[in-house]
Formats: sequence, C-alpha cells, structure tokens
Amino acid sequence: MAKTRETWDAVVVGAGAAGLFCAAQAGRRGRSVLVLDHARAPGEKIRISGGGRCNFTNLHATPANYLSQNPSFCISALRRYTQQDFIALVQRHGIAFHEKTLGQLFCDGPSTQIIDMLLGEMRAAGAELRLGVSVSAVERQGEGFDLTLSDGARLACASLIVASGGKSIPKMGATGWGYDLARRFGIAVTETRPALVPLTFEPQMLARLKPLSGVSVEAAVSSGKTTFQEGLLFTHRGLSGPSILQISSYWREGGEIAVRLLPGLDLYEALRAARAENGRQAPQTALAAHLPKRLAQLLAEEETSLAPAKTLADLSDKRLRRLAAAAQDWRVAPAGSEGYRTAEVTLGGIDTAELDSKTMQAKRVPGLFFIGEVVDVTGWLGGYNFQWAWSSGWVAGQVA
Ligand code: FDA
Repeated sequence: MAKTRETWDAVVVGAGAAGLFCAAQAGRRGRSVLVLDHARAPGEKIRISGGGRCNFTNLHATPANYLSQNPSFCISALRRYTQQDFIALVQRHGIAFHEKTLGQLFCDGPSTQIIDMLLGEMRAAGAELRLGVSVSAVERQGEGFDLTLSDGARLACASLIVASGGKSIPKMGATGWGYDLARRFGIAVTETRPALVPLTFEPQMLARLKPLSGVSVEAAVSSGKTTFQEGLLFTHRGLSGPSILQISSYWREGGEIAVRLLPGLDLYEALRAARAENGRQAPQTALAAHLPKRLAQLLAEEETSLAPAKTLADLSDKRLRRLAAAAQDWRVAPAGSEGYRTAEVTLGGIDTAELDSKTMQAKRVPGLFFIGEVVDVTGWLGGYNFQWAWSSGWVAGQVA
C-alpha cells in the first residue's frame, strides 16, 4: 500500500547547530517544521566541541574572522543575529559560562547543555525531530519539494533547508550530501578542503623532531601576510595547537609557514645577556630558561653538531643569532594535513554568489536554503563557526 505523503512547511536536513537553531526560529513563526538527521543523536559536534565544554561563540566575532570567496557575504547574517543575541539566549536558559581566552565563551558545564537548550527551543516552537533517517531523493514539485526518505516515507515541503554540515570527521556522520544536492540543482560549489586541522611533516623532518612530540610552546605562526599568535604543539605526525589549526585554513600545499617561538621575546638578545652573565653555562641550559627542556636540548644539539661548543662562551654572536633564528625564524614546508579525519571544519562549500545573504536562500531555486558549515563561510578557531551556524540559521529561520 502506498504510504501517505506528509506535508510540512519546512524540512531541515541536519540536526546540527545550524539546523536545530533554524528549526526553532521557523517554528516560532508558526511554520510546521521537521528536522531530519541520519545520526542517532542530534548535535553530535556540539557535544564534542570545545573539549566537551562547547566554545559556543566569541565576544569579538566580526566578519574579519571568516574566510570565504566573498568575505562580505557573512556581514548581513552576523549583524542581524549577533553573539550578544546568542549570549542572551544562553543566559535566559541559565547556562553558566566563562571567557577562556581571546573572547572565547565556553560552558562551565558539559556542552550537552547547549544541545538541550536548542532542543528545548525547538520543542517550544513546535518543531519536530526525526533521527536515524536520511533523504534518498529530492524532487522539485511546483514551488516546493518532494522528498523520499531512507525509510520509504514521502514528504512534501515548501522550504527545504540544507544544514548537513561539511565533510570534516566522517566518522561522526559528515557527508558531502549538501554539496551533491546543490550541484543537482545547478548551484555552484567552491573547492572544499580540510581546515582547522593539524599539519604533517615528511618522514625525514618527523624523524628529526620526534623527540619533541607532546611539547607545547607559545608561537606566532604565519602563512603569507596572516599571522596567529597562540599555542603550538609538536605531535608525532607534525604540528598542531591553536596557532597551527588557525594557519591551516590559510596554508596551501607546497607553501611554507614561518614559526616564531616565544614571540614576546628577543631570544638572540636574551642569549647574549645570558652569555655576558654566565658564559660557562651550556647552551641548552640558557635556552631552557625560556623554552621547554626537550626543545632547548634539540636546538642546542643541532647547533653544536655544526661546530662543537660546550658553553655559551664558545658561541660567537653569529652562532647565537643562528641558534635564536632556529627557534624564532623557523621556515618549514608541511607535507600535508591530517585531512578530514581530524579537521574541525571544511573550508569552501556552497558558492555564496548563489545565495541571498539576507536569507541564505538559493537565488535560482526559491525555497531552497543553505545554512551553517555547508556554505562557503569558514570561521577561525574560537567559537566563530558556531556563531556562523547561529547567525545563518537565524536569518533563514525568519523566512523559510
Ligand atoms: P553539523 O556538522 O554540526 O551538523 C550537520 C548535521 O547533518 C549532522 O548532525 C549530520 O549527522 C547531519 N547530516 C550530514 N549528512 C546528512 C545526510 N545525508 N542526511 C541526514 N543528515 C545528515 N566550532 C566552534 O565554534 N566552537 C567549538 O568549540 C568547536 N569545536 C569543534 C570541535 C570538533 C572536534 C569539531 C569537529 C568541530 C568543532 N567546531 C567548533 C566546529 C563546529 O562543530 C561546526 O562548525 C558546526 O558544528 C557546524 O554546524 P552545522 O550545523 O553547519 O553542521
């Protein structure tokens, strides 16, 4: 017997940050809204985000914190639904939070509080959630859409909101579904690549830096004209830590990154002063006054392997300069990145030229919306990506 066709005003594909939030907004306008997700639980990325504390926004979020082929595209949504708006919502729900660093707001408690808040907002707005189901087919039907689901159900909707996220962390259910759907409707998709991702080294460099795995240090890391000053972590594959994740969004294969460890210090001058004060100390001892011990040792070993030197006094100004430069002017070409397996986000996505920035609606397919990470708008590390999910979800929720 043929199944009856359900009819909804709006169907949202993806119960992540953007989809859940958008559904609540559309529901509040009296629209009948269904959210679908193939995962067994909603908001899985929210749950694991921010080390389980969800860095849900950033006090200083502005369009300058986002990458896109059209950097102006995000202005409208970010202005209409700001971080202050989301903070007020979090406060209304009595969720305690704190600023960790650089304007990054984290929950004091578990990030499931944010998921519960979004589900509560959805319920209050009358929106429904259906899990463990995906969309097998989408057809244009008049001004709306006909959907066939993986369980055989057929739905009709006036608005279809794609909130299926990017390709990062396939193990958690990330798919390229949103991009494929866009292409089917003739909507352009820009090149996608893993971003906010650890960078890797080739085997020779890895062998050299192996003793440093686990060492972390403050660094300024640059690619071209872009620099981030945050922590850097040596890993058994290459480099990670916030400064590296940030620069990974700007770095391209074949390119170099410039690393300045201890950006607040002139290491050459510090070593010269140490030599003047106590020239008999070993170079690694002087370095270890500023750098983690294993790093100090490796730098000293590499310098003294070029020409022997037992003490700082054995090092000329030229050699001190070279030693300092190894830590403060390190230019290295990563071999690649860890890829979507560990990337926090996907750079690129639905070409913003295809969307109305005020509504996130596809210009050539009225009724079809794209929100959140699936769109070619990618934030820095630090709560910016969730803010984009909230802002883009909110604006779509006002019209979908
Ligand atoms: P999201 O990926 O959240 O949701 C998409 C949903 O669509 C998923 O539930 C998925 O199962 C579903 N889906 C996909 N394909 C489907 C299909 N074919 N059919 C049905 N459903 C489908 N950002 C930030 O601002 N602060 C932070 O602290 C962190 N921390 C963080 C940690 C880690 C480990 C990761 C991987 C990422 C972060 N992020 C982050 C980034 C942030 O998680 C991300 O930008 C948002 O979750 C994007 O929200 P969306 O709703 O667009 O996609």
